[in-house]
Amino acid sequence: MSKKIIALVGATGRLGTLIGNAVLDKPDVQLRLLVRSGSRDKAAELEQRGAQVVEGEIGQSADGVLASLCEGATTVISSLQGGSEVIIEGQAQLLRAARDAGVKRFIPSDYSLDLFKVKPGQIPTSDLRRQFASVADAERGNVEVVHVLNGGFLDRGVLFGFVRIIDVEQQTAYVWGDGKQPMDWTTYADTARYTAEVAVDERPVPRIFSIAGDVISFEGIVSAYESASGRKLRVERLGSMEDLDARIAHLRQAEPANFFAWLPLMYYRSMLNGEGKLDGLMNDRYPSIKPTTVREYVEREKL
Ligand SMILES: NC(=O)c1ccc[n+]([C@@H]2O[C@H](COP(=O)([O-])OP(=O)(O)OC[C@H]3O[C@@H](n4cnc5c(N)ncnc54)[C@H](OP(=O)(O)O)[C@@H]3O)[C@@H](O)[C@H]2O)c1
Repeated sequence: MSKKIIALVGATGRLGTLIGNAVLDKPDVQLRLLVRSGSRDKAAELEQRGAQVVEGEIGQSADGVLASLCEGATTVISSLQGGSEVIIEGQAQLLRAARDAGVKRFIPSDYSLDLFKVKPGQIPTSDLRRQFASVADAERGNVEVVHVLNGGFLDRGVLFGFVRIIDVEQQTAYVWGDGKQPMDWTTYADTARYTAEVAVDERPVPRIFSIAGDVISFEGIVSAYESASGRKLRVERLGSMEDLDARIAHLRQAEPANFFAWLPLMYYRSMLNGEGKLDGLMNDRYPSIKPTTVREYVEREKL
């Protein structure tokens, strides 16, 4: 039996490296990567494990490079990060190459809360991904486009970092509103495993594939942290949801180019108000994956 070819773009990134490794853990698979020439050393581990590399760049390379990437592939996975030139135009170019090569499935770089339910303007990065989804609906031909949605990343870098729900150093948790809304959290590694399963699945996969390692409110996260670590957190209640709107508007106006100042709060808002809550979780489709909960993560990482 010939090996199934899975093409991956973004393999040198944080999530992409994990997706690449999760694909290589599957049997009878050939992983093929698009890597920028200056980034090739970051793909060394995947190459050592047998991944093929096509050197090139989204947006810069001739179409021939993307045709070589997609030739004979079953699935194309994107874990790209960037602005509209990457997420909309770049992924559209990649999707067209996949379609023209007869690729069966395309997984765009979404990996987020339910961006289809988030209202325009609430989170600019979700706006880009919804715009790409519209382009994909129009241009996909016979390609099955599957949006993998995982909520927020349940990791040091996101739940305990970028979004800063709990600041471990300060032993403080931060919330607006009542903190009772359930939110979806999945580790990078579990998201990568589910993505690899979707990539090799022989059955049709729904257009939106949602999974979560934990569905838990702010209050639940605080209790999970406290019981797993044995330490009591200080909880800072920063105001109402309207106060959060005002804070985001103020920060964005003060520093429009510094998205680190306001983008994390936009994600947190759409989780705290339930706007980005995932519907119809499909963890059960791949029961071999036992995704990590907040409590298990805190215990394992000794946070
Ligand atoms: N749900 C959440 O909590 C959450 C949190 C973080 C991220 N995410 C999402 O996860 C996805 C991946 O994010 P990440 O943090 O893993 O990203 P990342 O570490 O910044 O990696 C981005 C990847 O894209 C590649 N890339 C960018 N522009 C390219 C181009 N023009 N041509 C070829 N390759 C290009 C980079 O290659 P180089 O190595 O050459 O630069 C790198 O491999 C994104 O959709 C992001 O929004 C979700």
